[in-house]
Amino acid sequence: MATAKLLFLLVAHLTFSLSTTPSLAGMPGDELRAVVNLVEALLADPSWAELHPQPCTDTPWPGIQCETAGTGEDDLHVTGIHIGPDVTPSPPCKATAFLPPDALTHLPFIKTLSFFGCFLSPNFASLPPSLFSSSSSLEQLVLNSNDGLGGEIPRSISNLKSLRVLSLSQNAFHGGIPRELGDLSKLQQLDLSYNSLRGEIPEEMGGLASLGIIDLSSNELQGNLPASIGKLHALQKIDLSFNSLSGRVPPELGELENLVLLDLSHNKLTGLLPEELSGMKQVQYFLMEDNPLNTKIPFFLANLKNLAVIGFSGCGLFGPIPPFLGLLVSLTALSLDRNMLNGSMPESLGFLPKLGQLNLSQNQLTGEITFSEEFVRRLGSRLDVRDNRGLCANGYKYQEASFNLEAPPCSSSSNGNNSGNSTWELIMESRETEMFDSTLLWILVEELVWRLVLVSLLGRVMYGFRRCRA
Ligand SMILES: *[C@@H]1O[C@H](CO)[C@@H](O)[C@H](O)[C@H]1NC(C)=O
Ligand SMILES: *[C@@H]1O[C@H](CO)[C@@H](O)[C@H](O)[C@H]1NC(C)=O
Ligand SMILES: *[C@@H]1O[C@H](CO)[C@@H](O)[C@H](O)[C@H]1NC(C)=O
Ligand SMILES: *[C@@H]1O[C@H](CO)[C@@H](O)[C@H](O)[C@H]1NC(C)=O
Repeated sequence: MATAKLLFLLVAHLTFSLSTTPSLAGMPGDELRAVVNLVEALLADPSWAELHPQPCTDTPWPGIQCETAGTGEDDLHVTGIHIGPDVTPSPPCKATAFLPPDALTHLPFIKTLSFFGCFLSPNFASLPPSLFSSSSSLEQLVLNSNDGLGGEIPRSISNLKSLRVLSLSQNAFHGGIPRELGDLSKLQQLDLSYNSLRGEIPEEMGGLASLGIIDLSSNELQGNLPASIGKLHALQKIDLSFNSLSGRVPPELGELENLVLLDLSHNKLTGLLPEELSGMKQVQYFLMEDNPLNTKIPFFLANLKNLAVIGFSGCGLFGPIPPFLGLLVSLTALSLDRNMLNGSMPESLGFLPKLGQLNLSQNQLTGEITFSEEFVRRLGSRLDVRDNRGLCANGYKYQEASFNLEAPPCSSSSNGNNSGNSTWELIMESRETEMFDSTLLWILVEELVWRLVLVSLLGRVMYGFRRCRA
């Protein structure tokens, strides 16, 4: 995801550098002064103003974007300012770089403001509330990777009524997410990831009617997930991972019929996931890793036919691995490691055509590993079933294919050449060799019970499937 972000930045910045159109027209004096003042508050180059007396025309600078107002007049106006080490040639930001409170006051046409890796002295720079007092033309505010840009996100940010992109990722902001943020009804992307934001996610977020992406990951957010997020029908991506969110996942999330990615991993969410989540029909990535859910694997997953990646590692899951997971034909990765899952491994998983990664390690699975040799070879070391004390394998089939498949042979008298022998035959074999004990009997009983459960489950699923089609 970091790569994606970087790519986005690069693309955004490329558009910048291309758009400075040479023209003989001038720039209004107060706008030029505002640009010069802002750049001088940031850059360690005292001669910037002399080198770029006409930053839109004769002496262009790649960080400044200019356009005409489109009303017939020839004057050029500053519509974008970008500063960062990726703008070349660009002098570095000075150690005392700061944002003047009135930086935007005389830039009435500014649409994009983007400072990347500029404010680096710890806690030196912040966002002064008056910065946003008037600038309703701003559409993109992108302040990323400024380790020294701290303080709180000012409430006045709600004045930016045209804002479509707000990205304040990888800075040092603390305090809460201002409720007033919910007034930005045109906002399409909200990224506040990698800061030190605390408190709850405000219910008012339900007002962000155009929001397609929300990323609040890697902060210190607490409390429940607000149900109002379910009103944001344009949402395609929710990343709230690496926070301290608690309580249950609200059923209203099931109303997000366009959601493709839901990442709630590394939080403190508990309890049964609501069945209503089966409404997230488009969801492909469902990541819940490291939350103390302490439930069974939820049945509604069977309805999410587009699921490609299921990450439920370390969720305290118990009970069996339901065979219906084998019907999710788009699955490419299934991670259920570090849980308390028991019973046998459903054979159906081995028939998933796109599965490239299966981690069932550190559970309490029992019985024989029955995956085909082809499947085992295809996944190689990305098939991990280690640390399940009750699993056994007919070793010779797998030995070469995967070192993560270490499991004792299903019979202790096995010479590694008993493929095709059922558990029953193996047990009879052990009886002959006086290895028969209660553990093996238990495995046998479990297997019989499990097969019955499996048949009835598959029956239910197929019944539901037929009903859907009818
Ligand atoms: C699995 O564990 C549960 C308790 O969590 C237990 O009731 C059940 O009998 C176990 N099933 C098998 C097949 O071991
Ligand atoms: C499977 O999960 C375990 C436990 O989380 C982890 O240590 C291991 O690296 C994972 N295996 C693979 C192949 O990713
Ligand atoms: C396995 O058994 C077959 C016949 O049952 C024999 O031809 C083969 O050599 C054996 N393989 C191993 C590895 O013992
Ligand atoms: C199954 O086990 C029996 C008893 O040890 C053995 O004689 C037989 O060859 C095995 N069958 C296969 C197909 O390996």
